[in-house]
Amino acid sequence: MNVLSIVGARPQFVKAAAVSRQLREDHDETLVHTGQHYDAELSDVFFEELAIPEPDHHLGVGSDSHAAQTAEMMVELERVVLDASPDVVLVYGDTNSTLAGALVASKESIPLAHVEAGLRSGDFSMPEEVNRVLTDHCSDLLFAPTTAARKNLECEGIVEGVTVPGDVMYDTLLQVRDRLDDGGDGIDDAGDRLDEGGRIDVHETIDVPDEFVLATVHRAKNTDDPDRLAGIVDGLGDCPYPVVLPAHPRTVAALREFDLWERATESVEIVDPVGYLSFVSLVERARCVATDSGGVQKEAFYLDTPCVTLRDTTEWTETVDAGWNRLVGADAEQIADAIRSAGDLPPKPDLYGNGTAASRIVRTLEREVGQ
Ligand code: UD1
Ligand code: UDP
Repeated sequence: MNVLSIVGARPQFVKAAAVSRQLREDHDETLVHTGQHYDAELSDVFFEELAIPEPDHHLGVGSDSHAAQTAEMMVELERVVLDASPDVVLVYGDTNSTLAGALVASKESIPLAHVEAGLRSGDFSMPEEVNRVLTDHCSDLLFAPTTAARKNLECEGIVEGVTVPGDVMYDTLLQVRDRLDDGGDGIDDAGDRLDEGGRIDVHETIDVPDEFVLATVHRAKNTDDPDRLAGIVDGLGDCPYPVVLPAHPRTVAALREFDLWERATESVEIVDPVGYLSFVSLVERARCVATDSGGVQKEAFYLDTPCVTLRDTTEWTETVDAGWNRLVGADAEQIADAIRSAGDLPPKPDLYGNGTAASRIVRTLEREVGQ
């Protein structure tokens, strides 16, 4: 089987790491990086730390408006897909790279498989929701992380080709979790890779206090709205613990554009994005995570850290239902209150499978697409 996998943004590298490793045991994979994320700290570091193979094609698309970025990806992807003539195209998540890949595969009548199908936040003002729905409706094979996601698909009339393998991000996390050597003295080798065996030393570039809150913010809905961004800055600033925020470049740009940089840095330690290994280690040690990320909500759940979500809706609804995650939007008071009261967690339900999602996905592809 020849699988053409499309990635382009940070969360997709984390997801593809698990599937690519399984896939390459018995099959050919053509890996395409659209170039949506291009800074080393948003891209190269994940390939290095997670031992993801060098992409066969790097499209170098970069940043632009949604239309220009998605269109350029489609033009480049069409060329690569026609040339590779794969048995199936595999896309991940909900970014513009996902949608571009989905549209190209479907227009070329090549079977399309979507990892993380069926997630819905119900908020169509977010580009990710549009990307998810459109991708699912183009897909032949839909890998839903949860039964709730499968139900969402059913409600939209999609029943064929749906399986529930669990969450591939859990696979990746489990592969690194038990080998993280956070703290101690040997924290000087950022080049350690997942495939080199033994323990992984985390290159810790940030000095964090014993008790701290880990924050991430990057959603357009938050960064492009000065009122929401100010609410988040004030909420994080008012919480009773030191806050460390590895900042996406769009957040740094927005804080400067809206004259919020000084106000933010008065009380929040803003640092560059950190690599996956450091990040996971920070999630594990944090008192609480405050985030508008999709993936980080689940990583907090996996690592037994309470989560406060800086959004009005989430596609990972079961973490909220289970009492492990609180939706607080961008209201300063609610953010500070939720962080202050985050503490004891209820019993942990089994929500996202057992860390074998990648092999289940590969077995399904073999069955449905061929050996
Ligand atoms: C994208 C995804 C989002 C995902 C996020 C993961 C879409 C619509 N959004 O958002 O779903 O949660 O990735 O982090 O696909 N930039 C850099 N360096 C880079 C990449 C981007 O400085 O390497 C800056 C540019 O100014 C760019 C801005 O960040 O305009 C936004 O980048 P873009 O890829 O369009 O969206 P993200 O916010 O990263
Ligand atoms: N991440 C990281 N370093 C950071 C911030 C995030 O390694 O400084 C990882 C994090 O572990 C998660 C992934 O990036 O797995 C999620 O990316 P992001 O929050 O940007 O995207 P989303 O999940 O919201 O689409």
